[in-house]
Amino acid sequence: MLSTDEEDNSPLIHRAEVRNSLSFVRDWAGCIVATFLIIMGITCIIVISVYKAKVKDEYGIVLDAGSTHTNMFVYKWTVNDVVKGTAVVKEIGECVVKDKDNEVAGISSYVSNPDEAGQSLQSCITSTAEKLIPSYLRNRSPIYLGATAGMRLLKEMDAAAASKILASVRKSLKSSPFMFKDDYARIISGEEEGLSSWITVNYLNGAFNNSQENSVRGSSQIIPLTVGALDMGGASTQITFTSPKAAQPSSKLKLYGTEYQLYTHSYLCYGKKEAEDRFYAQLVKESHSSTKVDNPCGPKGYRQNITLTSLWASPCVKGNTSNRITVTLVGTGNHTLCSKEVSKLFNFTSCGGNSSCSFDGVYQPTIDGKEFFAFSGYNTVIKDLNLTSNASLDQLQAATKNICEKSWDEEVLMPELYDLINTYKPEYLYVNGPHGPDTYWGSCNFFACLYDESPVKGIVLTNDRWCDNGCKCHHGGTFTCIDQ
Ligand SMILES: *[C@@H]1O[C@H](CO)[C@@H](O)[C@H](O)[C@H]1NC(C)=O
Ligand SMILES: *[C@@H]1O[C@H](CO)[C@@H](O)[C@H](O)[C@H]1NC(C)=O
Ligand SMILES: *[C@@H]1O[C@H](CO)[C@@H](O)[C@H](O)[C@H]1NC(C)=O
Ligand SMILES: *[C@@H]1O[C@H](CO)[C@@H](O)[C@H](O)[C@H]1NC(C)=O
Ligand SMILES: *[C@@H]1O[C@H](CO)[C@@H](O)[C@H](O)[C@H]1NC(C)=O
Ligand SMILES: *[C@@H]1O[C@H](CO)[C@@H](O)[C@H](O)[C@H]1NC(C)=O
Ligand SMILES: *[C@@H]1O[C@H](CO)[C@@H](O)[C@H](O)[C@H]1NC(C)=O
Ligand SMILES: *[C@@H]1O[C@H](CO)[C@@H](O)[C@H](O)[C@H]1NC(C)=O
Repeated sequence: MLSTDEEDNSPLIHRAEVRNSLSFVRDWAGCIVATFLIIMGITCIIVISVYKAKVKDEYGIVLDAGSTHTNMFVYKWTVNDVVKGTAVVKEIGECVVKDKDNEVAGISSYVSNPDEAGQSLQSCITSTAEKLIPSYLRNRSPIYLGATAGMRLLKEMDAAAASKILASVRKSLKSSPFMFKDDYARIISGEEEGLSSWITVNYLNGAFNNSQENSVRGSSQIIPLTVGALDMGGASTQITFTSPKAAQPSSKLKLYGTEYQLYTHSYLCYGKKEAEDRFYAQLVKESHSSTKVDNPCGPKGYRQNITLTSLWASPCVKGNTSNRITVTLVGTGNHTLCSKEVSKLFNFTSCGGNSSCSFDGVYQPTIDGKEFFAFSGYNTVIKDLNLTSNASLDQLQAATKNICEKSWDEEVLMPELYDLINTYKPEYLYVNGPHGPDTYWGSCNFFACLYDESPVKGIVLTNDRWCDNGCKCHHGGTFTCIDQ
């Protein structure tokens, strides 16, 4: 499906999600730390071989099956849209695959019900692909599915389950009106994924069709100035850049008449979702308490229950199943400690000071001031931090520090509580606690406000469980401790 050395006149099918969302960062390691906070998608571009047809319009469908969701993209081109041997395609439609509960889910999540993995694709086929592609062209329009790290991990853990899911997907695509062969649906390698994101970024950036004005002199030919690609998925993260002097080039790629020597590496278990699971597992393992674990990266006061069985089931977590079923993570909002804990997910000492090494002992040629575009998970983070895509690394770090030190009580809980009182004007406030000292919910200030200023100050009653450091069971409008 993806060829690294395509013959001439091969159309390039790509996914254009990153069109509006490119952002660059120059520092790889610093950035990844900040980005572990948010959800992302995976970029997938697939180079397909040209379908010789007499008709002018050509169509192709690509299903990008990431670890957290599957997206369908429909492309259109004509045989004449070929520039220096590589075709230029247009994305004409997109559809997000939903399961029967109308939720997004990666195909790797269908371990216990593999038949539904294939069925889940049907509605996008009907609602989007069949709508956009004229019926007389359907049987010559190929449909591809590329699965990424979610399925790579599942295959490692449970090869039988992975092949059941692939079989279900193939059955479903075979029954569609589009052109499909079994090898059109497969798990792509991390290297293919890395190369794909590099092509996408440089294609959207216009690097390939702009070679004269914007080029650097290579050893034997003028090669366009390209940017490196940083792509973060749910289960893996890729870095890809041109490196003519790399000791171990990953791939040679010929596009628009130019040959590129690329280095790419896919870090499995460094995608957003898996990194987060590894992080929680590390906190639990380091903790002395068996039920309550401090989470320095969580907003101060924020409580979150995680089930250990599902955490240990994650293929990237090397944990042992214990009797402890749920653990309550309690946010402490300590940015310094948070950074320290997150950096433990990387082994930087394993490189032994070798500059041709990133972390975990992985070979990576020197970057030499190259510009990088970061997208997918990185872009989601930048947006959630309310930064623009041109934000500097300093701004990114400042925003990360700011959000890591937020207090859930002050930012979320108290505003909600005040809103509730002002909107519903309750006569009775009941809390089923206790949850901490009287400072925990800012309840001293809260009660001052409630009884002195609120619209219900003269009538409101509260129960006596708003704190657990002495005032519990003593103060309140009604005494309920008696029934404990
Ligand atoms: C180069 O290709 C991109 C992507 O198709 C397009 O947006 C851009 O206008 C092209 N630039 C030139 C100079 O042809
Ligand atoms: C979390 O688990 C604890 C202990 O099992 C339980 O008391 C608490 O209600 C749970 N909290 C939430 C939000 O589910
Ligand atoms: C499993 O976890 C328990 C409790 O955390 C620990 O005492 C034990 O050594 C662990 N076993 C292994 C094989 O890691
Ligand atoms: C964060 O944690 C470190 C290490 O436990 C501690 O020394 C520091 O005082 C904490 N910072 C804050 C603001 O609580
Ligand atoms: C990091 O890697 C080195 C060399 O592979 C190894 O000796 C060391 O134990 C690793 N450190 C951690 C914290 O895993
Ligand atoms: C650094 O690592 C690369 C690849 O593993 C190796 O070829 C090179 O010799 C190393 N350099 C030094 C200075 O150890
Ligand atoms: C970003 O802006 C929105 C809307 O103004 C706000 O609700 C949100 O809290 C902000 N997020 C951060 C991290 O500042
Ligand atoms: C980013 O671009 C916006 C306009 O698009 C500009 O207002 C802002 O100053 C820029 N920020 C940086 C850090 O360059």
